[in-house]
Amino acid sequence: MLIKRPSDIPPSEITPRELFDNRRRFIRDAGLLTVAGLTGLGGLNANAFAATSGQSLGPLLASPFSTDEEQTDLKSVTSYNNFYEFGTDKTDPLANAHKMQVRPWTVSVEGLAGKPRTFDIDDLIKLAPLEERIYRLRCVEAWSMVVPWVGFPLAALLKEVDPLGSAKYVEFVTHYDPEIMLRRPVIDWPYTEGLRMDEAMHPLTLLSFGLYGEVLPNQNGAPVRLVVPWKYGFKSIKSLVTIRLVENEPATAWNKAAPQEYGFYSNVNPEVSHPRWSQATERRIGELRRRPTLMFNGYADQVASLYQGMDLKKHY
Ligand code: MTE
Repeated sequence: MLIKRPSDIPPSEITPRELFDNRRRFIRDAGLLTVAGLTGLGGLNANAFAATSGQSLGPLLASPFSTDEEQTDLKSVTSYNNFYEFGTDKTDPLANAHKMQVRPWTVSVEGLAGKPRTFDIDDLIKLAPLEERIYRLRCVEAWSMVVPWVGFPLAALLKEVDPLGSAKYVEFVTHYDPEIMLRRPVIDWPYTEGLRMDEAMHPLTLLSFGLYGEVLPNQNGAPVRLVVPWKYGFKSIKSLVTIRLVENEPATAWNKAAPQEYGFYSNVNPEVSHPRWSQATERRIGELRRRPTLMFNGYADQVASLYQGMDLKKHY
């Protein structure tokens, strides 16, 4: 993000061979079949490794919110990542995120709530039936992916804790463990994000536990992450441990690091340039041509009304 230049190099060309070999070894050691393609889905032994990346999540609901665009291949989605806690190169999360233990894991939903509660991750996953939703993720450096995420609306979790009327925003916090994560203050750890309450309650806002029908790999934000498809990728915060209902707009990691470059709203907007590059076009991973970026990442029909009357050049 901040310190990277946009890259047009396909991940298959930049990922060092040994990383792919390491990954294959990791998958084999975990007793899994294959994640080399969609053909490997299903048939995985559910008890072999509790909540191991690559394990089938079982039957899923198909979501009416899905796009029918061609999906990005699984290998790119799981090997070309931004998870700065594990390094700032796109291949670092795959190489390093396996060090994070994702069980036991709890998520505290706290702040301005009638029934604040700490959820064990496995109880959290059972709150609502898991849906498969094929969403675009548009990252700020001008690349995009189409990913079949698995999860349920964040609203289902927030309703469980009875938000108070004074709760106007939601703050999100990522797990931070300096023993296994970057200590360099690339950003002010822990990584935090925020949404306005109506954005958080919007049915497109997803709490994701998986992708391609399988348990979310660590490098993609296991055991649970946010997916906010109409916003730049950095809003889609990974490996959540705290969700806090608050009255005032929360500070967010990238806004604190570079306020002139990253605002609170971060809606995908081809008309507002990043100070160092245009945001008018993007390259879909796996394609060579650039395509025009769509307002709200193509979700304008669903979300434009949230911002009626706002100057989106000012509230970028
Ligand atoms: N969450 C945390 N905790 N740390 C991060 O560095 N990077 C963000 C977002 N969530 C990030 C994060 C950015 S910039 C992007 S583009 C997406 O994660 C990338 O998600 P992906 O790696 O699953 O494609």
